[in-house]
Amino acid sequence: MDMYKSQAEQRQNCSNEAMKTAEDRDLNRLKAASVLLTSWYDASHRTLPWRENPTAYSIWISEIMLQQTRIEAVKPYYDRFMKELPHVTALASVEDDRLMKLWEGLGYYNRARNLKKAAQIMVCEYEGDLPPKYKELLKLPGIGSYTAGAIASIAFGEAVPAVDGNVLRVLSRIFASREDISRQQVKKHWEEMLLKILPKTSPSSLNQGIMELGETICLPNGRPACESCPVKKLCLAFRDHLTEELPIKSPPKKRRIEERTVCILEYQDEVGLCKRPDTGLLASLYELPNIENHLTREQIFAEFGLKKEEIVQMEDLPEAKHIFSHVEWRMIGYRIVLGRPLGKRWISAKKEELKTIYPLPNAFSRYTKLIK
Ligand code: ADE
Repeated sequence: MDMYKSQAEQRQNCSNEAMKTAEDRDLNRLKAASVLLTSWYDASHRTLPWRENPTAYSIWISEIMLQQTRIEAVKPYYDRFMKELPHVTALASVEDDRLMKLWEGLGYYNRARNLKKAAQIMVCEYEGDLPPKYKELLKLPGIGSYTAGAIASIAFGEAVPAVDGNVLRVLSRIFASREDISRQQVKKHWEEMLLKILPKTSPSSLNQGIMELGETICLPNGRPACESCPVKKLCLAFRDHLTEELPIKSPPKKRRIEERTVCILEYQDEVGLCKRPDTGLLASLYELPNIENHLTREQIFAEFGLKKEEIVQMEDLPEAKHIFSHVEWRMIGYRIVLGRPLGKRWISAKKEELKTIYPLPNAFSRYTKLIK
């Protein structure tokens, strides 16, 4: 009985009670929001290629492509990928260069490498299909809690959450939460809350409904379209005029700036390429010859072992910038037209093969566009 408890114990009990009440209140708000979001999603979701005749495989591919990439940008990639690699077995045996070519321009190439690794595991261990359980999906390369939750709920109807940046923004606003959404603990908190209320009957509609709201209405950077929001009457940020300042997200680490000199080396209808190392940034993709630092013409000749009399034409190219997650390249460029074959130092690629065979990352697109 309480009268025999120490004051510290009683205080602890009171604060446990208060926390319990606060959590119950939050769960009630979340449940109410989930009912509205589920019917809103069922009634008015967008038609997207991966929502027509969905399979676990097509949902997996689309979810991986949609990470860090806008829906409109993903659509053509998705269609091309599914045409060429329509099932797990095809993906498991695709040539690495071909896979990279299909992914060219989407960036974050590890996503594609992990897709192939996971497909090979599915062939060996799951009879060539996706395992139908959240916990099994989570063990596969490239599948974290968001993707496992999305596949398990959308393809297999398992009542598990799928929390990504969009979902965190929506929830932070509904609850006017000032917790920093870049912290793992905050993501875990919302996953646990959603797990408690996800309906067994339609976890897919709720998960996709929250994502869809984040992509179409509860937009980032202070421009949400609150007038059209199906949960505005439950949203504490809307009530308290906090939608502009929420969610709180700590800024990413500063990027390292790297200067590079990029060269288009041409001989007749051929261009010189290099293959990047198997590990690190843009691993095993192809690239135009490039060197760290901004170099003069003379420095380039020395670096590439070129003699002046071998050069038919040389031209300065425009500057370009490319932003990766941790590095930013500031590039200058030269076109060097040689009067002799490119030789062994570079891969001699036919110009038309740049479009069809060699995966060249977007970082070079300012220069590859200039190859005619
Ligand atoms: N964004 C990423 N996956 C999505 C999905 N399944 N539905 C809505 N938006 C998404």
